Amino acid sequence: MTETDTGTATTTDGEVADVLIVGSGIAGCAAALSAAREGADVLLLTKATKPDDASTDWAQGGISTTRGDPESLKTDIIDASDGTADPDAVDTLVENADDAVEDVLVDTLAVAFDEGEDGAFDYTREAAHSASRILHVDAATGTHILRPFLNYVADHERIEVRQDTAALELITAEGRVHGVVSDEAPTGHPIYAGATILATGGIGALYGRSTNPADATGDGIAMAALAGAEIEDMEFVQFHPTAYAGADPFLLSEALRGEGAVLRNGDGEQFMPEYHPQGDLAPRDVVARAVETEREATGEVVLDVRPLEFEAEYPAIAEKCRDRGIEGDEIPVAPCEHFLCGGIAVDDRGRTSLDRLYAVGECARTGVHGANRLASTSLLEGLVWGLRAGDDAVGVDPEAVAAPELLNRDPALPDRFAAEKFTRLRRTMDEYLGLERDPDEIARASSVLRRLKGEVDAYIRTRTARDLYELRNASVVALLIARAASENTDSVGCHYVVTDADESTAEPPADD
Ligand code: SIN
Repeated sequence: MTETDTGTATTTDGEVADVLIVGSGIAGCAAALSAAREGADVLLLTKATKPDDASTDWAQGGISTTRGDPESLKTDIIDASDGTADPDAVDTLVENADDAVEDVLVDTLAVAFDEGEDGAFDYTREAAHSASRILHVDAATGTHILRPFLNYVADHERIEVRQDTAALELITAEGRVHGVVSDEAPTGHPIYAGATILATGGIGALYGRSTNPADATGDGIAMAALAGAEIEDMEFVQFHPTAYAGADPFLLSEALRGEGAVLRNGDGEQFMPEYHPQGDLAPRDVVARAVETEREATGEVVLDVRPLEFEAEYPAIAEKCRDRGIEGDEIPVAPCEHFLCGGIAVDDRGRTSLDRLYAVGECARTGVHGANRLASTSLLEGLVWGLRAGDDAVGVDPEAVAAPELLNRDPALPDRFAAEKFTRLRRTMDEYLGLERDPDEIARASSVLRRLKGEVDAYIRTRTARDLYELRNASVVALLIARAASENTDSVGCHYVVTDADESTAEPPADD
């Protein structure tokens, strides 16, 4: 161990891996698979202790293919993004989509996608798709992909999966990333790697209602930002329009509307045709704001599933309804944080602005989603970019440079410190950085969040508790969202800026 000029203790004791991956959703697993196929020894760290700790396991609708028409999928992605998706990134996605699905999901993992009576795949459709092109298993597709994928990587001779292990800091020297310090005993453990791939998922824990697992605290984005990586598009937080409106929300997949379910307001009226020519299948950001407007105007919005064989065709969602005591075929819904379209800026192989650091999956900003993501493209993006990054990452030897030595001088945190600060952070995000943003409120959020981060930083100097680092990461990400939201004064996609005119006419469209 050595002492640097700044007084920070550093160490070069640690372990090594050719490729180090942080996160165990579809993107992390795909990166592990392709790096191992190239002959690398892979170490995959994950905070997860069970499959449903990753957002992939929660994904319902499915995974889009092009079904032989990449141009049509490209058009739908760009249209849903309000014209803001990067056409080159979308080309990378659509040109690699079908091969990736066939190679990994069909041939390697043998995922049992639903089939019709003729034995051919039963492609479904979701909002803002112009064709039925989505592969699915019931509406529990993520589970049926992730579980075999986790088994496959765990059994692979070149891949070690280490569960219940968080990366706390990146190890950097002269603009290059050399690995991470994990939270392994006693006070942080350096792991050096030829390449480090962040696949840490989303940011649902920053909001009171989310379709993500509880520990989606934006860890990879925060670590990359603190190391100086470029971060983009953070204002584009996507809210899903149809999550159960009660406590303990769960997703009611867009596939339900794709197959005929409709939204009705508290007066029983089908309102979406008033808001958008695509009606119930309008882009997600449009539907989410319309649902919120109608809830405010008429008391509630329900998803009417009577046009479907709901119990028979969507047993996993029907079971969730039964578990919550929801009776009947009109399910109360409200928008809910779902997906971050921005994140760590990467190129078409998942390379970040820092040498030997990659990012894939929801923590990455590839440019595919622009300001609003098209349904069933997140699993696909994670798969395609995971494979490409894993392949690109091999071939550079690890180098043991000085790693930050974390201090745990005072391990005990004040009781409930992290939980209470998280509550304050979520309240701030819900109130000021939700579906609609007011410039004055964004400024208020920034000052609350800056104070909060200052308090967390004071503790983190002498403690390495995982919940404290998660809180640090969440507050860094929250500030990035606030800053991006304040810098973008135009309403586009998921980022809706309230104007004085909105405030004086905050009513649903008039019937005419
Ligand atoms: C859904 O099933 O509605 C979610 C699919 C997605 O977010 O892509």
